Amino acid sequence: MSISTVEDLSFYSNVEPNQQRFTEVVKTFQTNFPGDDITFFARSPGRVNLIGDHIDYNFFPVLPMAIANDVIAAVNVNSTNEIIITNTDAKDFPKEVITLSNSQIDQEHHSWANYFKCALIVAKQYLEERGVTSLKGMKLTFNGNVPTGGGLSSSAAFCVASTLAIIRANGITDLTKQDLTRITVVSEHYVGVNTGGMDQCASVCGEPDKLLLIEFKPKLTAKPFKLPIQDLTFVITNSLQVSNKHETAPIHYNLRVVEMGIAADLLVKKLGLEQVPNDSNIGTASLRGVMDAKFGHSWDGNDATVGIEQLTEMINVVEEKLTNQKGYSIEECCRELDITAKEFDQRYLSQFPVKFDTLKLYQRAKHVYKESLRVLKTLKLISTATDKESFLIKFGRLMNESQVDLDELNESSNKKLNELCSVALANGSYGSRVTGAGWGGSIVHLTTVDKVDALIEGLINNYYKVEFPNITPAELDDAIINSKPSMGSCIITTDFLKR
Ligand code: ATP
Ligand code: GLA
Ligand code: MG
Repeated sequence: MSISTVEDLSFYSNVEPNQQRFTEVVKTFQTNFPGDDITFFARSPGRVNLIGDHIDYNFFPVLPMAIANDVIAAVNVNSTNEIIITNTDAKDFPKEVITLSNSQIDQEHHSWANYFKCALIVAKQYLEERGVTSLKGMKLTFNGNVPTGGGLSSSAAFCVASTLAIIRANGITDLTKQDLTRITVVSEHYVGVNTGGMDQCASVCGEPDKLLLIEFKPKLTAKPFKLPIQDLTFVITNSLQVSNKHETAPIHYNLRVVEMGIAADLLVKKLGLEQVPNDSNIGTASLRGVMDAKFGHSWDGNDATVGIEQLTEMINVVEEKLTNQKGYSIEECCRELDITAKEFDQRYLSQFPVKFDTLKLYQRAKHVYKESLRVLKTLKLISTATDKESFLIKFGRLMNESQVDLDELNESSNKKLNELCSVALANGSYGSRVTGAGWGGSIVHLTTVDKVDALIEGLINNYYKVEFPNITPAELDDAIINSKPSMGSCIITTDFLKR
């Protein structure tokens, strides 16, 4: 299916505030580039993951939705040999000039231009596939209302919107959702964050009023579907602890990728499995690959009952085989894997730098299989739901169990995030959990429409005003997002500006 091109802003469920953002982006564009025309707009949304975190890079299905908050870009296409990027928030994202011949990322200086260059790298590769080798110059002005470092993937919204803008600017009008997803899932690897594919896929494939079941094997697909129960809603609250994924990658995100890769290799060895693909982002086995090999066939992802049986067994396998609950040292890993320290370094530590005292292989692998099991239990619940109250209680329970494991096994929650969850549960949430990478960012709460106001009031009084006594109404407004599932990436023509 191709990426949509729309002629106005009616796809937003709340048009008015977005109309104002477009007015602002046009005004800033005209100030930055006087006399230049806007050729088109590109946009892509953030996402919230409802359940299934830190499992996408192990290729287990996840359940996110695209949110209304997005990144928009006014784009001018020209014949120069440079791309100029500007932003309505010029303080945080000052003007940068990128020459077309140099998309090299400056790892020493963290700047938003690096994220744009990620988009340029993957767009260039795709354009080459399509026979376009000489790129157009561009002038862009961005505006984003996905909080940065807020766990709602502003980075994917930004990278996908930028990639789409570059591809359209170079004359490709039939880009498919599959291709835009395929090329952008690796985009952030170029800034050194070894992400899975959930965020980009949700940003591209989001649909109004629908959740997404994203599967990674046998191939990356997004299946949009509606919840069978009415009147329930997901409230998102930003803890206002900014989680900078790029800077903390060596001790947080990328370390999880490494720990899970080592855990997978160790399970392959201990179970005596053969022909397990080295399909993880760092070229090790993956925990999904281990499961498929142990059961002698590739679980097709559609049969939740089989998946549930297999994942339950995999949790037992972790208990039996990864017995060092205190954490593995490099020496112990080498001994168990029967490799030298040099080989260990080459296989696990050479691609993305990581820092650790011990490797928590037992905890991370157990989290992955337990969290993946919860996704399948949620899917089963959805497919059999009839009674609203029982659905809410059961789904809420799965979300709460997820939060406990994110905190204790995956160690990607923290005190404030746990506090935000507890306050919410005492004020009308059925289930509350950290969404996305964690280590800060946002919590997603499951509740019903009639309980939203009380929930928000409880959170304001018992979390925000306690943690941030000087918080302003505008800051509170930005921190609490009550978004319906929204449409994924699209191009917007400039027609509506003339009306
Ligand atoms: P998470 O990955 O936890 O969901 P996130 O994606 O919001 O949170 P990061 O992965 O750290 O946070 O990415 C944030 C970076 O994305 C910013 O530092 C900036 O480089 C880029 N970015 C996001 N939104 C914008 C925007 N509106 N304008 C310019 N750059 C942006
Ligand atoms: C980040 C990554 C995703 C995913 C989540 C955790 O958002 O970009 O690929 O791994 O963390 O579920
Ligand atoms: Mg991000």
